[in-house]
Parts: sequence; structure tokens; C-alpha cells
Amino acid sequence: MKRFSKIIGTGGYLPETVRTNEEISQHVDTSDSWIYERTGIRSRHIAAENETSTSMAEIAARQAIDAAQIEAGEIDLIIVATGTPDRVYPSTACLLQQRLDIQNCVSFDIQAACSGAIFALSIADQYIKNGAADKVLVVGSEICSRLVDWSDRGTCILFGDGAGAILLDSADEEGILSTHIHSDGEYEDLLYCPNPQVATEENKDEAGFINMRGNEVFKMAVNTLGRIVDETLAANGMEKTEIDWLVPHQANTRIIAATARKLKMSMDQVIVTLENQGNTSSASVLLALNEGVRDGRIQRGQVVLLEAFGAGFTWGSALIKY
Ligand code: ACO
Repeated sequence: MKRFSKIIGTGGYLPETVRTNEEISQHVDTSDSWIYERTGIRSRHIAAENETSTSMAEIAARQAIDAAQIEAGEIDLIIVATGTPDRVYPSTACLLQQRLDIQNCVSFDIQAACSGAIFALSIADQYIKNGAADKVLVVGSEICSRLVDWSDRGTCILFGDGAGAILLDSADEEGILSTHIHSDGEYEDLLYCPNPQVATEENKDEAGFINMRGNEVFKMAVNTLGRIVDETLAANGMEKTEIDWLVPHQANTRIIAATARKLKMSMDQVIVTLENQGNTSSASVLLALNEGVRDGRIQRGQVVLLEAFGAGFTWGSALIKY
């Protein structure tokens, strides 16, 4: 019998502290109206000093485990997508495994910047379809606020902190219909974050902050996401009208609206969370999915398209029968 991966639980966590556009405008030359008009963002959550990607991942993961009504010990595999691991090693996934008190499971991190959740989901789906795992926990957790230069108005307005999680289980009915992931390492200069601790003589003076040529990234994102939509529909022999919900990576409402237009979908069929969350990188798609599921918009049996684009460049999609 054919095996599928099915989402059996979702979870999310956003830190308590909120930083508004007004607050940012007091420190850099920008305004609430500029940020909102160009990005769709009004505020973002900022992790407290004692919070880490692992601590946030644990809260989101426990919510997903509760929603799935399983015991943590039943999980076979944990994949955490993060660009802000607590430690270089052990991986955030191993630290999470310890916090969840699971003895017998495999845990590892993946790093695909803002596309991390889609990459992790794609890997999880392969493990389940091949029979190598049954229950897989996928988490995206990010403290972007610590990678941002708060004096750089081109980037500090965009990012926020948070964690999203989903639990997948093997099933004999359709769940994840297909995943599509891609990378192109040609564009490092447009979006990168140095790691000063392992710098060479040549780049030893670079600070460990996000560097982005926003406008060029914007254009690449719109074009690339348009192509991944076509690829996903073609792979499934599906028409645009068959998709019930778009759950996009939350970088910019103008990018999201361009993808919705491409799909001929109204914005009422798009889960948009960035107004109060900003771009939470690998957490954003999972946080948006969690919101859509928990507020009842996304219903069992509906077809949901997840997509993301990020540094690398990396990009991908997942088509799901929820
Ligand atoms: N406030 C006021 N003015 C600003 C600000 C600001 N915060 N930031 C830039 N400007 C100015 C610029 O200096 C420029 O001024 P100039 O014309 O005098 O030179 C002008 O506004 C236009 O700048 P652009 O960069 O062309 O503005 P754009 O409309 O492209 O918006 C933004 C910038 C919001 C960053 C947009 O390009 C964007 O969202 N890019 C994509 C981000 C993204 O998707 N990243 C991928 C995921 S992130 C990851 O993987 C880690």
C-alpha cells in the first residue's frame, strides 16, 4: 500500500515583547507608513534575553504534540530548521530532543534560511514515504533579532522572532502530495550573514549581521515563486482553482500578493501573518499554517500550497491535502 505523510498536529510560539514600527523609527530614519506600505509589517516579536531557538522550539513542539494527541516518545525523527542555533553543536534538534526527554529518535538541523521549513518538510516526507520513519517532528525556530544590525534601516524593519512546529505521521490516505526544493548558490552577494568566528583574514572585519540588497532579492523572489507555483501545479496535474489556501513565507505582502495573483487567488484565501510578526525566516510558514489551522480557516481535506524563498538562494513548495 502507498504511504503518505499526514499532518497530525501544529504548534507555534511568539515571544511576549513586541517591537512596533514607531519604536524602530525612533532609532533609524524610517516611519511606520514607509514600512507598512513597502512591506505590510506593523510590528514584530522580539525574544527575551533568556530565550533561545531551542526554548522557543520546545514550546511550539509541545503544542504540536498535544494537538496530535501522541506521546513525545513516539517521535522517530526531529528536524529543526534554523539559522540561529543556540550552539554550533549539539544541533538545536538534539537540544530539543533532550528537552522533550526522547531517548530513541534521530535529530538533526538543516539550514536553508527562509526556505528552511519547506526543506525540512520535504526531507521528513521522504523519510516517511520510504518507511524509514513514522512520526516526524518538524520545527522552524529563529531569533532573527540577534542577526539584525538595528542601525540598518534596510533590514532591521523586516525581521522578527518565533517558532512553528508540525507533527507528521505515516498514513495510507493522501497528505503531502508533493514537495519541490531548489537552490542556487550564485547569489551570495545579494543576501548573506557572515560568521565572524570562522572568518578568514580577508573577511575578519565583517560583523555577523544580515546583509541584503533588498530590491534585487525582491525581484528574484517574485519571479522564482511564480515558477515554483507552475512547477507544483504541473507535477500534480492540478488547476489553480483546485487550491483552497496559500500559506506563503512571510517576507513582504507585495511578494505574497504577486504569488496570489499568479494563482488567481483572492487575498482572502491567503494566510498572512507578517503584519504582526514580520519575517521569522524558517518559522514563518509553520507559524502561518498553525494560525490557519487553529482559527479554523484551514479544514481537513482542503488543498494547501506552502511556499518560501530565502538566502542561498533557496526556494521551495509543498502541496498538501490537509
Ligand atoms: N525607511 C525609509 N526608507 C528606506 C528604508 C526604510 N526602512 N529602507 C530603504 N529605504 C530607502 C532606500 O534607501 C531607497 O532610497 P533611495 O531611493 O534614496 O536610494 C528607497 O527607500 C528604496 O529602496 P529599495 O530597497 O528599492 O526599496 P524596496 O521597495 O525594494 O523595499 C524591502 C525594500 C522592503 C527590503 C524590499 O526590497 C523587500 O522586501 N525585499 C525582499 C526581502 C526578502 O524577501 N528577503 C528574502 C528572505 S530573507 C532570508 O532569507 C534571510
